[in-house]
Amino acid sequence: MKLARSVLIWLGLIGFAGLDNVMAAEPSPFVGNASCATSTCHGGAIGRGPAWNHSLSTWLANDPHANAGRLLYDRDSQAIVSRLDRSASGSREAYDAVLRQRCISCHTTATTSQTAASGRLSVEFLAAGVTCESCHGAAESWLVSHTHADWDPATNESMREMDSIIGRGETCVRCHIGSRTEDGLVRDMNHDLIAAGHPALRFDLPIYLANLPAHWDSRRDRELDASHVRLRAVGRAINLAAAAKLSSERARDHLQDPTVPWPELSDYDCFACHQSLSIRDFQVPPSSKKKSPLHVSDGLPVWNSWHSVNQLELRDNVALLEKLSPHRSDPKQIAASGQSLSVKYRKLAQQLATETIDPRQELQSMQERLQDQPPPVDWHQAAIEYLELDALLRDLNASQAPGSLNELEHSLRFQLEPRPDTNVSLHSPADFDSAKFRQTILRILQSQLASTLSQANSE
Ligand code: HEC
Ligand code: HEC
Ligand code: HEC
Ligand code: HEC
Repeated sequence: MKLARSVLIWLGLIGFAGLDNVMAAEPSPFVGNASCATSTCHGGAIGRGPAWNHSLSTWLANDPHANAGRLLYDRDSQAIVSRLDRSASGSREAYDAVLRQRCISCHTTATTSQTAASGRLSVEFLAAGVTCESCHGAAESWLVSHTHADWDPATNESMREMDSIIGRGETCVRCHIGSRTEDGLVRDMNHDLIAAGHPALRFDLPIYLANLPAHWDSRRDRELDASHVRLRAVGRAINLAAAAKLSSERARDHLQDPTVPWPELSDYDCFACHQSLSIRDFQVPPSSKKKSPLHVSDGLPVWNSWHSVNQLELRDNVALLEKLSPHRSDPKQIAASGQSLSVKYRKLAQQLATETIDPRQELQSMQERLQDQPPPVDWHQAAIEYLELDALLRDLNASQAPGSLNELEHSLRFQLEPRPDTNVSLHSPADFDSAKFRQTILRILQSQLASTLSQANSE
């Protein structure tokens, strides 16, 4: 059904695009999906034979990445593109120019020359989407050799390693967090794109991995699945490293090219600026209230709260993170501190990846931490706490938890239905009740601790 719909959309697009626009031939290290497609290679029937034999068929039928290029002509994309360039709604050339400069680095398997060139994009190129080589690396140098019995992936640098958590995470964050240097491409989800209507990127490695239809043998994932807590912690350290690197690269590029926006608003807590200013909702935080370690001063947003909330041994790095706050928005300083933070978090990710996690101990320390803290004023922080708890309960194989976990998840939702009193719907967490959130999460932790203890005693 999904496939049928996308074929229809695609036929419509061909009608719109015309069949005549073939892209100028450019040298490319990418061999293209057709090279993987025969039925004895990766294009076999789904469900028959080993997973590697139907990787491509699975990707084609079910993977969101197969649709990533096509959707650049759907209604949402048309709205985004024409907000970025008004002339794009009337001109296919102008439209494709925006796609080349702003979109194809993440939504297709593009080369730098394709992003820099002008002229129309070919239908075939867009239709291919985020292909095998976007994740596995350009295949020119290993296409033939990787079929040989004595093939050793470790000897070929252009095939990306993805068996480890680090290898996978670093593959995804190139697009799902962004970067201005990986593969020589600019992949930057900045505030201009978000304000034009693009969803803000909120990557979480365990959830996104689970949401990909596996086109590989899931026995490969045993090491990753051994601890959800560890997978999430490593994933968050990888996110932080990538986000700090991106901030640093934005600063550096702005110094060289003043058209690169500065300060970059998407680097800061969205809801510090996007909040209700009505008197009813306005709260001056009492000055005695314990502040988050990143707090700069009332009214100033902290750096990227989605990535930087309190878990990951952040206190050591507060001085560096503080430098990323906008009131110290000296691009030279941010270029330097972003880079050092990135190196630190990459090391932390590697260290966490080798650690053994005791979920019972984690449960205990989470409870202690939350009990000592004031309620999370920041919605992002609360969302991260929720995800941590979810990982913990999975590791503990907790059976009675899902009900109360749903309650917690519900309290994080935005009020998208119009409120009867004001007829306003909220695309922000203005209604988020942090005291209630804290109460609920502590209640879940307490009951889980009690049952974990009684289990331990009966063992
Ligand atoms: C930094 C990489 C990046 C860039 C640049 C980028 N995108 Fe995206 N885009 C993504 C990712 C990743 C998602 C999926 C977001 C998610 O669900 O987490 C996405 C999602 C979307 C969606 C929503 C798709 C859906 O299924 O609802 C649209 C529409 C879209 N992008 C269009 C565009 C357009 C148009 C441009 C250029 C103006 C663009 N994107 C630039 C990475 C990018
Ligand atoms: C979004 C990223 C992504 C894309 C796109 C992608 N893969 Fe993968 N692929 C993975 C991940 C993650 C794994 C699991 C890790 C590993 O085995 O290295 C994997 C594993 C594989 C494996 C190993 C299977 C096994 O069990 O031995 C094959 C073969 C493979 N992919 C082929 C393909 C082909 C062919 C395509 C294109 C049709 C493709 N992949 C596209 C991420 C991707
Ligand atoms: C070359 C850029 C690129 C890479 C690398 C990449 N993605 Fe994506 N991903 C995208 C884009 C663009 C979209 C939006 C496509 C769509 O909505 O159809 C997307 C969508 C997704 C979605 C669907 C999101 C949703 O809201 O439904 C998941 C899940 C996902 N990616 C997981 C991963 C994982 C896991 C990896 C690493 C193994 C990865 N991606 C690597 C670009 C990329
Ligand atoms: C420092 C303050 C600040 C921060 C931080 C900030 N924004 Fe904005 N945002 C603005 C302003 C000001 C505008 C209006 C810009 C204009 O109209 O030109 C805006 C516009 C927008 C719009 C378009 C709204 C509309 O009605 O047109 C969206 C969507 C948006 N921001 C989302 C976000 C997200 C998501 C984040 C976090 C990743 C974020 N913003 C961070 C100040 C901020």
